[in-house]
Amino acid sequence: MAHRLAAWTKDTKRSALQDMLELTSGPEYISFGLGLPNAECFPTEQLAVSAHEALLRQSDPLQYAPPTEQLKRQIQLLMRQRGVECGISQIFLTAGAQQGINLLARLLLDPGRAVLAEEVTYTGFLQVLEPFQPRVLTVPTDPVSGIDVDQVEQVLQSEERPACMYVIPSGHNPLSYTLSKEKRQKLAQLAAVYEVPIIEDDPYGFLAYEDSEIPAIKSFQSDWVFYVGSFSKILAPGLRLGWIIANDAIIEKLSIVKEATDINTATLTQQIAANFLQKDEFTEHLHHLRQEYRLRRNVMIDHLARQLGEVGAWTVPSSGLFMWVRFPESINTMELFKESIATEKVTFFPGSVFAVKPSQMASSSVRLNFSFNNPDKIEDGIARLSRLVKRHL
Ligand SMILES: Cc1ncc(COP(=O)(O)O)c(C=O)c1O
Repeated sequence: MAHRLAAWTKDTKRSALQDMLELTSGPEYISFGLGLPNAECFPTEQLAVSAHEALLRQSDPLQYAPPTEQLKRQIQLLMRQRGVECGISQIFLTAGAQQGINLLARLLLDPGRAVLAEEVTYTGFLQVLEPFQPRVLTVPTDPVSGIDVDQVEQVLQSEERPACMYVIPSGHNPLSYTLSKEKRQKLAQLAAVYEVPIIEDDPYGFLAYEDSEIPAIKSFQSDWVFYVGSFSKILAPGLRLGWIIANDAIIEKLSIVKEATDINTATLTQQIAANFLQKDEFTEHLHHLRQEYRLRRNVMIDHLARQLGEVGAWTVPSSGLFMWVRFPESINTMELFKESIATEKVTFFPGSVFAVKPSQMASSSVRLNFSFNNPDKIEDGIARLSRLVKRHL
């Protein structure tokens, strides 16, 4: 029986992420593919205590309920680390950053309207756009310096006014760059001058590996930046918790869209997270997480340098969970990936998966995740990748 589905679903495909999940489930694979946090870094014991407190001591964690004020207060404090001062009423709780982007897109986009994004960007954002079939105005981007802000200005001057600009300023997924303070300031200024809101997707903003943290774009411009945060990479993705910071009028509309989507963010996980964040252990946890991920990043860089130093190029990510490795143009990493599934059994994302339209830079690059595996697996995985690449030179 053929059901008549909405027209926009006709060209939708299963995401490469879904395929990857299935392909890499066997123990014979080493996965650098998905952006998974390291499971050994989950604060399981502490969360168990927090869950116990929530279930046995707090009121109605199993009931439908308005957002937990206690969690919002913790987010308010956290946001100071990103340079953002906001009131409780400007914090909107979501089921993760993905939902945050989705709700904002639903609020901002009319079918067919344009949006501005980098030519290589997070696939989850492109998926969110599908029902709206927008024109995506792409701007050049670079694994070292990030989004080209002069080109952003050019597009804003010359093209139809986009409904929003989408940026991932810290630990970019997939390109791994962290945007300079100057570029953040310029973007904030452009948003205000051209009255085009920025969706600032910042799930990696708290995972800076160097001493200096660059403030969020939101810290430079409050009205025209909608900040999207997440507990997925700094606590656990299974909690499905994130947040949006926006002004009160936007928050009011968001709550209407959210109610239609899933009524409310899970009360139980809100309370578990709030209990955990309230204890000083969270600061310690974040410190530990950065240490562990910095170590894994360094191990990956070490082995890449040893095995693929002559043929690959990369930048050292100062935040996030990914490395973007560029190979000579003759290498097509989609082909490499297909061969790897059958031979070396190391998985990664071919760069072309993230390209809004065909891009040479993306098709000869790979995105490698460094958080999920322990150092010995990383060493083995890079050795496999190196054999694979060298067969294609
Ligand atoms: C840039 C970016 N945005 C959003 C998400 C989704 O995060 P969450 O688990 O908070 O929904 C991810 C997850 O990998 C991501 O990399």
